[in-house]
Amino acid sequence: MPVVTAELFTWPLGDDAVLIPRTVAIAGPYQALLTANHERLASWFPGFDRPPTPEATRADLELRGQGWLAGTELPLAVAVRAEDGLRLAGAVNLLINGPARSGEVGYWLDSAFEGRGLVTRAVTTLLDHAFGPLALDRVELRTVPANTRSQKVAERLGFVREGILREAAAFPGGRQDEVVFGLLAREWQPSAN
Ligand SMILES: CC(C)(COP(=O)(O)OP(=O)(O)OC[C@H]1O[C@@H](n2cnc3c(N)ncnc32)[C@H](O)[C@@H]1OP(=O)(O)O)[C@@H](O)C(=O)NCCC(=O)NCCS
Repeated sequence: MPVVTAELFTWPLGDDAVLIPRTVAIAGPYQALLTANHERLASWFPGFDRPPTPEATRADLELRGQGWLAGTELPLAVAVRAEDGLRLAGAVNLLINGPARSGEVGYWLDSAFEGRGLVTRAVTTLLDHAFGPLALDRVELRTVPANTRSQKVAERLGFVREGILREAAAFPGGRQDEVVFGLLAREWQPSAN
């Protein structure tokens, strides 16, 4: 898996992993990780149907960085500690709707890093930030009905399954329903971090 050099800022996820900013500084390794995963991600994300080009990945990361500066997004990558440095393992994201005081989380992992609680730990950190310093009232998580693994993450974190948005997702092969999960600030127990 792609190695990244030490970043300006890291946030620990236990002893084995950290969150780092998902910016153009990691464009090369992130492109490699996306390319390795795009086929499986295409089943769950409408925008992942074609292999990403380096230019498109860079442009996307630049947009994410602008979103961070504008206060509308917190784009992060999960990296695991290895003997030769940090290895990229996936991404987590918080979209922020300031006026509505609400947010939406998204995430994905390289398959080699599933089953270690990395995303659960990463989203816990995002939720601490969302309901703490950002003072959001509500965070949402959306997934297609067949994505039971993602729904397990939502339920493990205490999200409430609120309903189905009919044909809300536009996949290249046709529209699909989305399951909406919601979590309110008063329902969140901040972690010990
Ligand atoms: C959805 C996805 C991120 C879930 O990955 P995951 O590895 O199951 O989730 P986590 O990293 O939180 O790990 C949880 C697993 O690790 C285990 N685990 C180990 N240590 C753990 C810890 N400290 N905390 C929580 N879980 C832990 C859990 O028991 C669980 O395993 P189980 O499902 O067999 O019970 C991953 O399957 C993926 O990237 N899928 C493709 C993209 C995708 O669907 N994204 C979401 C679109 S909405």
